[in-house]
Parts: sequence; structure tokens; C-alpha cells
Amino acid sequence: MIIAVDGPAASGKGTVSRKIADLYGFSYLDTGLLYRAVARDVAAAGASLEAESDALKAAQSLDFSSLDDDSLRITGVGEAASIVARYPSVRATLLDLQLQFSRKPPGAVLDGRDIGTVVCPNADAKLYVTADPEIRAERRFLELSNLGESVTREGVLEMILQRDARDTERADSPMRPAADAMLLDTTKLDIMQSFDAAVELIKRKIGLPGT
Ligand code: C5P
Repeated sequence: MIIAVDGPAASGKGTVSRKIADLYGFSYLDTGLLYRAVARDVAAAGASLEAESDALKAAQSLDFSSLDDDSLRITGVGEAASIVARYPSVRATLLDLQLQFSRKPPGAVLDGRDIGTVVCPNADAKLYVTADPEIRAERRFLELSNLGESVTREGVLEMILQRDARDTERADSPMRPAADAMLLDTTKLDIMQSFDAAVELIKRKIGLPGT
């Protein structure tokens, strides 16, 4: 059983995905962490984000156990991730890892940008989670401020818009809803309301665990 969750930064897809995985007893993979880790490893090697070959090397030697790293959450890493995410060779390398993960029994929830369209086009349920950019920027602003980062609301909105553009306009596996994705707009919803709405949509499609 595979549940695919896609959507832009700070749409709430990560929190919703984690909670869905808990509810169903499935494994959960935040695929953004893979791209973030590649960007981190490129920088750590003193290599260039602008060189596909350097990013590919980092993707090929990616250590799954290094994904549990708080430094992957900081602002610049998300932006850097969207640069290495443009490279087809990096995407192809990370695709294998994601496919292996998606086969974990009894099921897996994967969240990202291209899960329903490219990684798991045959997923049992697909969600595309969105929210207005201003709301997403406010959420990210509060998150980063809580982490002690000195950011402004305007600066975070600008970053969110730039990242949306980079992710939707790239040639390989751009961010977009799969034709059969169920849309969930969390603009006016808090975490629990978003989760409840997601569960309703998934229940309609595949039922509850054990049913
Ligand atoms: O989800 P997160 O913000 O951690 O993702 C960081 C970046 O990684 C995204 O902006 C996107 O460029 C890239 N990404 C991707 N495909 C995925 C997941 C993330 O291209 N499945």
C-alpha cells in the first residue's frame, strides 16, 4: 500500500503525512530530506551546487542514516536542495532509493513534489496539499523564528515564491498534481483540521486500516 503526498513548501504536507503514516502503521519518508542531504553533502565537500557532476557524486554516496540531521531543516538548505533537484541524474539516483522505500510492508507514505506523478504513479491514494503563499510564508516564518533564525516575513515569502517557481518550472519532474490526485487546501485549516480532512479523503479512496 502506497500513499503519495505532494505539494509546495510549508503547505502542511509533512505533518499530515507523518500523522497518516502513524494512523495506518506505515513507514514514512520525507523525500525532500534526500535532496536536502545531497545539497548539504555538496557544500560539505566544498563542491559547487551549479555542477551536476558534483551533485551526482553526492547523491550516489548518500547515507540514509544521515537524514536524521537537524541542520537539514535550516533555510539555505531548502533553497540549495531545489537547485540540485533540477539535475536529471540526481533525480534518477534518488528515484531508486524512493522506490525501494515505497515497497516497505505493510505500506509507505512518501511526501515530496513528484511522488504521485513520477515516483509512485500507481500509488493507492494521492494527495496534493496546497495553501496560499502568504499563509505558507507565515508558517515558515514562525518555524524558522522558533529555530532562532533571524528572518523577516517578506524575506520568507520571497524565498517561498522563488522555490515554487524553481520547482514548478524545472524540466525534469516538475511539481504538479497528478491527474488522479485529491486536492487539499490547508489555507484555512490548522494541523488537526488538515489531518482530519486528509484522512477523510484517503478513507474514501482506500478505507481505514483493517477494513
Ligand atoms: O520538501 P522540502 O522543502 O524539504 O524539499 C526541498 C526541495 O527538494 C524542494 O524545494 C524541491 O526542489 C526538492 N524536492 C523535489 N522532489 C521531491 C522532494 C523535494 O524536487 N520529491
